[in-house]
Amino acid sequence: MILVTGANGRPGSAVVREFARQGHPVRALVRDPAKVGDLATLPGVQIVHGDMLHPETLQPALAGVRRVLMISGAGPQLLETQCTFIDAVRNAGVEQIVKFSGKDSIDGFDTERFRSTRSHEQVLRYLVASGMPWTVLRPSQFMEVYFEEVPDLVRSGELRLPLGDTTLAPIAIQDIAKIAYQVLTTDGHEYTTYAMTGPEALTMTEAAQYLSEAIGKPIEYRDVTSAEKQREWMQAGYPPARASAFAQLFEERSRLGHSTVDLGTHRRFQVEPTSFLEFARLNAATFRGDSEYTVTPA
Ligand SMILES: NC(=O)c1ccc[n+]([C@@H]2O[C@H](COP(=O)([O-])OP(=O)(O)OC[C@H]3O[C@@H](n4cnc5c(N)ncnc54)[C@H](OP(=O)(O)O)[C@@H]3O)[C@@H](O)[C@H]2O)c1
Repeated sequence: MILVTGANGRPGSAVVREFARQGHPVRALVRDPAKVGDLATLPGVQIVHGDMLHPETLQPALAGVRRVLMISGAGPQLLETQCTFIDAVRNAGVEQIVKFSGKDSIDGFDTERFRSTRSHEQVLRYLVASGMPWTVLRPSQFMEVYFEEVPDLVRSGELRLPLGDTTLAPIAIQDIAKIAYQVLTTDGHEYTTYAMTGPEALTMTEAAQYLSEAIGKPIEYRDVTSAEKQREWMQAGYPPARASAFAQLFEERSRLGHSTVDLGTHRRFQVEPTSFLEFARLNAATFRGDSEYTVTPA
């Protein structure tokens, strides 16, 4: 059996849906059963409840599992959550952990400078030291993070980010899910890191043009200051620590300026990369503010 954690979240739910689409059984670990929704109705999907921070809750999730895709949120508990979970997985006799990490597409990005990327590196060192066979998935920024800009797109027709002419190479979660599915269901991926980005390094002016084309309404990129954006994130309800971590991240991206596209992993697994325009068209209703975001449309 294969276990996917973080199954109520963005990448986790997409991977579980990919298993269902492929007709392959999968077990999905969720912390909050109330949030499961239609995932529980998909063919071959077995939902189990448990908390990665509490190993005593994980026995039903880990029984008979051969491989695990380990995903948890990027917040302050990432390090403790994943190290605790690695211990539980090793003790349960699981053969292999596939760790879901990240990779900024920006050239020169220093993973040690930001809490979430630094935590991912610390978890990776812990995983390697555990002696368990590991694999790492390193996707760049998700295209889905642009859904967070929908209120501005609807209200003012502006994509407001503190990025100047910086380019980013975001990836569609659906591409990651297709790659993760293959990594989890085929052999020979031990001790391998798979980095991946989307197919284009985009300025935010280009991203705004694609959004505009997809939704049929003018969208303009507005280069705001980092302090302005931080205030807007806080007004939108982000906890202060999250807003300031994002501001720091965007300052660094803006300072470095250029992203590199890396499609080697897409080619390796024969996954056609989703362009930003395709993604925007597929999710036009969400970008217009007319429908809730779904990771992978049914
Ligand atoms: N955002 C990006 O652009 C990006 C790019 C590359 C990589 N990443 C990485 O992708 C990962 C997922 O990020 P995300 O923002 O997409 O997260 P997300 O949608 O919030 O998904 C994370 C999931 O992990 C679950 N979880 C957290 N702690 C748990 C615990 N103790 N026990 C069981 N489940 C737990 C959460 O459960 P609940 O639903 O109950 O909270 C949630 O469903 C992060 O590690 C992040 O660093 C993100």
